[in-house]
Amino acid sequence: MKISVSYLSSIFDKKSTINLIDNSNADYIHVDLMDGKFVPKNNFNVREVINDLKDTNKPLDIHLMTFEPEKYVDELSTLNPARITFHLESNTNIEKTIKLIKSKGIEVGIAIKPNTDIMYLDNYLNDIDIILVMSVEPGAGGQRFMFDMIDKIEDLNDLRYNKNYLYKISVDGGINEYTALKCHKAGADIVVSGSYVCHHENFNAQINNLKRITK
Ligand code: DX5
Ligand code: ZN
Repeated sequence: MKISVSYLSSIFDKKSTINLIDNSNADYIHVDLMDGKFVPKNNFNVREVINDLKDTNKPLDIHLMTFEPEKYVDELSTLNPARITFHLESNTNIEKTIKLIKSKGIEVGIAIKPNTDIMYLDNYLNDIDIILVMSVEPGAGGQRFMFDMIDKIEDLNDLRYNKNYLYKISVDGGINEYTALKCHKAGADIVVSGSYVCHHENFNAQINNLKRITK
């Protein structure tokens, strides 16, 4: 399984954390951006984000926890990210935003909160590269994994095999060795990890644990 590491919460400062992830065995740097409206916290200043990440080498996996995600796509695309994921619940014109992100040559993802049923994704399943299943309420690192989300991952996995959809499945929130294995068995392709990796002196040891378990 691929591991995307979020620098949202860490024992090191932001700059060192980004640098440590960039030089680790992680597959992606997961960039959590929050607007203070869609989620209570606000950590989002586009210029600062661009400055923080402009010299990194690893593929960027951007997670927009914002309303009006379309507003940020132009500027963020200057970072040449691998993927931009926005929320189904963000009240945007979903089709338009999918097209906008794709038009930049960037993979597009849709994230769904724990209480959002997968049936609401129906119209978009042919057009998206990835579904980000939130296994905690979006907004903060260090929360507990919601085990009900395993069924959701299994359902999305069955659905793609039955209907030949090409989307990947990523899971975000509360990942550790135990929950990563559950996600892997349910069919996830990627897990996003924040505190399990960044609250540890040795990032690579933690990342390698997750990789070994889900091989
Ligand atoms: C939660 C964020 C996550 C979070 C993961 O709103 O989207 O990416 O940082 O952190 P942990 O792994 O600590 O749950
Ligand atoms: Zn995230």
